[in-house]
Amino acid sequence: MGKRKRRQRYSGPDLTEHVDLNPGDKFEITLGEMNDAGDTVTDIDDAPVVVSGGLPGEVVIAEVQKRFPERIAAKVAQVLEPAAERVEVECKYFLTCSGCQWQHVSYGHQLQLKRERVQREIDGYENLSGVAVDLTVESEKRLRYRNHGRFTIGKYENAGQVGYKNMVTRQFVRIEECLLMDEKVNETIALVQDKMGGQTQMSIRVGANTDSMLVQPRMNISGLNLVTGEQHYEEEVRGSRFRVAASSFFQVNTGQLSKAVDEVRELLELDGSEVMIDAYCGVGVFAVLISPYVKRVVGIEESASAIEDAGLNLNGATNVEFIEGKTEHVLADWDQDVDVLLLDPPRVGCHPDVLDSVKKLKPKKVLMVSCEPAAMARDLDLLCEGGMYKLETLRPVDMFPQTRHVETISMLTLQESRD
Ligand SMILES: C[S@@+](CC[C@H](N)C(=O)[O-])C[C@H]1O[C@@H](n2cnc3c(N)ncnc32)[C@H](O)[C@@H]1O
Repeated sequence: MGKRKRRQRYSGPDLTEHVDLNPGDKFEITLGEMNDAGDTVTDIDDAPVVVSGGLPGEVVIAEVQKRFPERIAAKVAQVLEPAAERVEVECKYFLTCSGCQWQHVSYGHQLQLKRERVQREIDGYENLSGVAVDLTVESEKRLRYRNHGRFTIGKYENAGQVGYKNMVTRQFVRIEECLLMDEKVNETIALVQDKMGGQTQMSIRVGANTDSMLVQPRMNISGLNLVTGEQHYEEEVRGSRFRVAASSFFQVNTGQLSKAVDEVRELLELDGSEVMIDAYCGVGVFAVLISPYVKRVVGIEESASAIEDAGLNLNGATNVEFIEGKTEHVLADWDQDVDVLLLDPPRVGCHPDVLDSVKKLKPKKVLMVSCEPAAMARDLDLLCEGGMYKLETLRPVDMFPQTRHVETISMLTLQESRD
């Protein structure tokens, strides 16, 4: 997953002014289809009513959270007629903190919804339609899988408290623990709860497979045995150790990252002769773990801290080098043969110049790892335009159980000669 896109404000007509539903009001509703945000949408008098915590077809009592010109936001308060896929929710903050969308959905159905989401995006493009999306690769840990938590510190009467900000109401929600977080993150919350006066945010990163951790910002809380403000921490993936700076990206689900590396390697069917570029390489996880199976790997990354980490993360590999720069610039200047190109861009997807360079360099295999299905489908379509590449595989990997988010690995093969 990469940088967040800035949310665009709605600037269309007021679609809800004629509907008499206000925050706190409760009303009975039959829930409509699921949207890409993981909520259901039902029209009441032509006004979209978006309900969190439900499933299509359920009859519920919903409670209005907030009115917007483009929608009325509500959450399920009571289920009158449940869907077959509904399960008991374990977390007491569900629908209060707004971090999870699908704690009420059986895990099998979550996997199916993610697969359907990817299929919908792909089917919107003529060059891609007809490709069947594989089953979603499930996460062994369905809870406590996150190695990284970003928390809000309360203000005024909540000063010093650790919690989350509800994304709909923008209200602060104090938490004692988050069921998505690694145990060590929750232990740290327990240590600092109520003691964070003067701070606005807190980040806790832990090694799921190491004892290393990183708590930001630097604080001096008297009587606490907690090191804060460190510059790096370490994580282990498939037996290799990776240093990660405070400002470097690292996947939040270490277990699924290992599986994603395995999936990538399996899909590429490498024979050891390949020159591979790992574009958007972060601290070098894919580059280093795939290096034993290819001749040479070149990682490209724009973040100075991540590229410094990557250089220290070789784990003995002698066929890997890293280039600091933007993928669109480095690939535009690239003049050597590339057999395999791995693209793992941020949420916005690839810069158009990257896709132009792919068509110029013509790697035999292009593998994309993407956390945003819409951007992925758009980029894959451009690569398949004119028949130069063929989409062979689409495989969702569940990096983020209990949420609507989906990571997808896609593989394209070159359909023409490289000369
Ligand atoms: C989704 S992360 C993938 C990181 C890595 N592949 C991994 O799995 O750990 C995307 C990475 O791309 C980097 N990035 C963003 N835009 C970039 C660009 N235009 N060129 C090169 N790197 C970029 C970010 O700093 C981030 O490390």
